[in-house]
Amino acid sequence: MRYDEHFKELCEALEGAGAFLVVADKKGRVNLMTIGWAQIGVVWGQPVLTVLVRPSRHTHALLEDASRFSVCVPRRGELKKELAFCGTKSGRDYDKARACALTLKEGEPGVKYIDGCALVYQCEILGRTTLAGGKTAPSVLERYYSGDDAPHTLCFGKVLKAEKFL
Ligand SMILES: Cc1cc2nc3c(=O)[nH]c(=O)nc-3n(C[C@H](O)[C@H](O)[C@H](O)COP(=O)(O)O)c2cc1C
Repeated sequence: MRYDEHFKELCEALEGAGAFLVVADKKGRVNLMTIGWAQIGVVWGQPVLTVLVRPSRHTHALLEDASRFSVCVPRRGELKKELAFCGTKSGRDYDKARACALTLKEGEPGVKYIDGCALVYQCEILGRTTLAGGKTAPSVLERYYSGDDAPHTLCFGKVLKAEKFL
């Protein structure tokens, strides 16, 4: 499918219980993290899916070394407990795929994704940048960045493959 074909379904998931961001470490150990923030569009003339990850997340450290990731969107109303678990527990403490009994499949080289999801975006990292506090609107700074946690890193992933599973 085209990367933008199921844009609405992706947004509905992000606005609801979330989607899974799947990143592996150098040894191929995979971590799952729930995301509610992401963008899909065109950057550098290519289809790009951008995820926003706080530096405090285990996933953030994995993304610094990784070259690829996937974003997996469950079917409407499914895997809610698993999304809640992966959105509150850290991969530092759990093998979340195993704890949630989710099966991982091999995608493009270096990409794993969750079996049984409705939408899967396999991505290659083309860039990373951090939201600089001084250039962010005061309303956003106040709401999201007034605590101790550093601002999100944006990680730009070229969409290598976007698939819809029935
Ligand atoms: C619905 C939902 C959406 C979330 N969205 C994000 C997000 O977009 N970016 C982020 O950094 N954390 C987000 N989180 C928080 C992380 O999923 C959470 O801190 C997780 O435990 C981090 O896992 P890790 O330490 O294994 O990377 C979200 C949590 C939930 C429940």
